[in-house]
Amino acid sequence: MAGLRVLLCLGALLARQGSADSEAVAIGEVHENVTLRCGSLSGSRGLVTWYRNDSEPAFLVSSNSSLPPAAPRFSLEDAGALRIEALRLEDDGNYTCREVLNETHWFPVQLRVTSGPAHIDVNISATGTLPNGTLYAARGSQVDFSCCSAAQPPPEVEWWIQTHSSVSESLGKNLSANSFTLMLMSKNLQGNYTCSATNVLSRRQRKVTTELLVYWPPPSAPQCSAGLSPESANLELTCNWDGGYPDPTFLWTEEPGGVVVGNSKLQTLSPSQLSEGKKFKCVGSHILGPESGASCVVQISSPLLASRPMKTCLVGGDVTLTCQVEGANPPARIQWLRNLTQPETAIQPSSRYVITQQGQSSSLTIHNCSQDQDGGFYFCRAENPVGVRAADIWLSVKEPLNVGGIVGTVVSLLLLGLAIVSGLMLYYSPAFCWKAGSTLRGQDMGDVMVLVDSEEEEEEEENKGALAEVVGQETRETEEELPKEIGKHGHIHRVTALVNGNLDRMGNGLQEFQDDSDGQQSDIVEEEDKPV
Ligand SMILES: *[C@@H]1O[C@H](CO)[C@@H](O)[C@H](O)[C@H]1NC(C)=O
Ligand SMILES: *[C@@H]1O[C@H](CO)[C@@H](O)[C@H](O)[C@H]1NC(C)=O
Ligand SMILES: *[C@@H]1O[C@H](CO)[C@@H](O)[C@H](O)[C@H]1NC(C)=O
Ligand SMILES: *[C@@H]1O[C@H](CO)[C@@H](O)[C@H](O)[C@H]1NC(C)=O
Ligand SMILES: *[C@@H]1O[C@H](CO)[C@@H](O)[C@H](O)[C@H]1NC(C)=O
Ligand SMILES: *[C@@H]1O[C@H](CO)[C@@H](O)[C@H](O)[C@H]1NC(C)=O
Ligand SMILES: *[C@@H]1O[C@H](CO)[C@@H](O)[C@H](O)[C@H]1NC(C)=O
Ligand SMILES: *[C@@H]1O[C@H](CO)[C@@H](O)[C@H](O)[C@H]1NC(C)=O
Ligand SMILES: *[C@@H]1O[C@H](CO)[C@@H](O)[C@H](O)[C@H]1NC(C)=O
Ligand SMILES: *[C@@H]1O[C@H](CO)[C@@H](O)[C@H](O)[C@H]1NC(C)=O
Ligand SMILES: *[C@@H]1O[C@H](CO)[C@@H](O)[C@H](O)[C@H]1NC(C)=O
Repeated sequence: MAGLRVLLCLGALLARQGSADSEAVAIGEVHENVTLRCGSLSGSRGLVTWYRNDSEPAFLVSSNSSLPPAAPRFSLEDAGALRIEALRLEDDGNYTCREVLNETHWFPVQLRVTSGPAHIDVNISATGTLPNGTLYAARGSQVDFSCCSAAQPPPEVEWWIQTHSSVSESLGKNLSANSFTLMLMSKNLQGNYTCSATNVLSRRQRKVTTELLVYWPPPSAPQCSAGLSPESANLELTCNWDGGYPDPTFLWTEEPGGVVVGNSKLQTLSPSQLSEGKKFKCVGSHILGPESGASCVVQISSPLLASRPMKTCLVGGDVTLTCQVEGANPPARIQWLRNLTQPETAIQPSSRYVITQQGQSSSLTIHNCSQDQDGGFYFCRAENPVGVRAADIWLSVKEPLNVGGIVGTVVSLLLLGLAIVSGLMLYYSPAFCWKAGSTLRGQDMGDVMVLVDSEEEEEEEENKGALAEVVGQETRETEEELPKEIGKHGHIHRVTALVNGNLDRMGNGLQEFQDDSDGQQSDIVEEEDKPV
């Protein structure tokens, strides 16, 4: 019969001793209909009467039509079977069918009425809840799992765990309630936890599956840094706060002011967002992290240069020019140049030019110095997205000291000088000689000087913009007792010094030249941001 849910177990567990028919057990669910059979016979029967046997038998229904059933729920079916509609929990009990034919037979039937489980209560603590309802627990924490369910008869309650890539594993069965505790949560305990409640009679089952994630915050404080983005060479801020799960979120702001710059771990800044000394703050937030987030600050700055302004090399010898960059964040790219008006044509390493860089210190080693190729200005140029600076180094190439040669040179110079002086004295009047002598006091070699000076001046005209960039911190620091007389014509002094090999004087001359004549321009160049 359709809709009739009967689970009939003949000769089931509780066999009765001494009975002709083995005990029958029928199982029905509450609110449903059940049919109890009168013995194992089928076909037409004698007079069949059903009783309920608890403390004493109670009449239920009979095939004698003059006897009405005890309640409308009870009726007889084919072959004397008892049908009970809309089962109630109190229908659970022992029933007897009496059949009267030539002789009377008694058939006992046990009816088990089951119900549920209708619902399961699962409590997992202590955990947090994500916006989508998923639970998470902190790594290392203790988590209590409890599950209970009600049913008739009491259900079997079982916990199952299924972690990533493993099969479901039972954590044990109990009746009605089941609980266990995981003391130290770890990543491999992240998974789906299922509690099932099963009615042992009806096999009706309910399950609740809860996904439990195991989270942990990054172990240390975030670290901010500035660098170059690999593809665009723009400034890239990095907020390093690794080791947590799931990944934290980031917020970059400008400090002070708190203007939001972006919200990713790597933040690329456009050149317009950069200026000297600007600070950027990264606040990292993790679901298990500190409430207010963990933060770090990075300050960007353009490079400062320190280098010795002068170097000497002997012809055929080696010389190393060094340039130390300080305070550059992100680290600067350091290049060596001969001509600042052609910034692209940096000195390329070759057999004669060896460039080594250690951290923010770069050295240019020139092998086999030659006077005509190597003497002159060298520029160390340091650039990062915040700014660019250049410092100059003057390299003078000298013949190796040779006593015989020096003596010979001195003697021949003296002779030459004498010849010139006497020639002049002979050519001009004595009065003129006296005047010239006093004006040019201390500047013997005047002729040579003028000759070189004109070349130098031309070059300087061409390189005016370039030289403006030359002023570095280091040259300012050496600014001391400068001869006041060196003013507009500082470059002339420099040339003089070069010819005479008087390096100190040359340094001062250069110093004065830059500070007096081009000071303003230099400042502008120093403040200049990265050129696009
Ligand atoms: C039980 O029997 C009644 C009457 O035949 C029927 O209306 C009802 O749907 C049945 N209930 C179930 C759960 O089958
Ligand atoms: C049920 O009641 C009948 C009549 O009183 C009795 O003979 C029989 O032994 C009882 N059965 C049980 C199982 O109690
Ligand atoms: C049916 O029940 C009535 C009333 O109890 C009784 O008089 C009659 O004898 C019964 N019939 C049979 C066949 O037992
Ligand atoms: C039904 O009978 C069984 C034995 O056959 C007995 O254990 C059980 O207690 C009885 N149930 C009731 C409700 O009397
Ligand atoms: C029952 O009685 C009828 C006649 O009343 C008889 O024919 C039949 O054999 C009997 N059955 C048994 C099992 O005694
Ligand atoms: C879950 O269990 C915890 C303690 O084990 C208790 O504090 C909390 O109230 C329970 N929550 C529910 C919904 O029962
Ligand atoms: C809930 O969100 C977490 C984190 O985003 C995710 O891992 C999990 O699968 C989500 N759960 C569901 C049921 O969507
Ligand atoms: C589950 O059963 C075990 C024994 O099998 C018992 O020690 C434990 O206390 C039970 N737990 C619950 C929640 O019933
Ligand atoms: C938990 O079950 C859901 C749904 O089947 C699945 O997407 C998720 O990956 C499972 N989680 C784990 C940790 O196995
Ligand atoms: C520097 O480069 C410019 C442009 O090519 C050139 O005109 C100038 O002569 C160069 N100066 C030196 C000293 O090489
Ligand atoms: C050094 O350079 C000169 C010319 O500039 C060349 O003749 C000589 O061979 C070079 N010496 C070495 C060791 O390379």
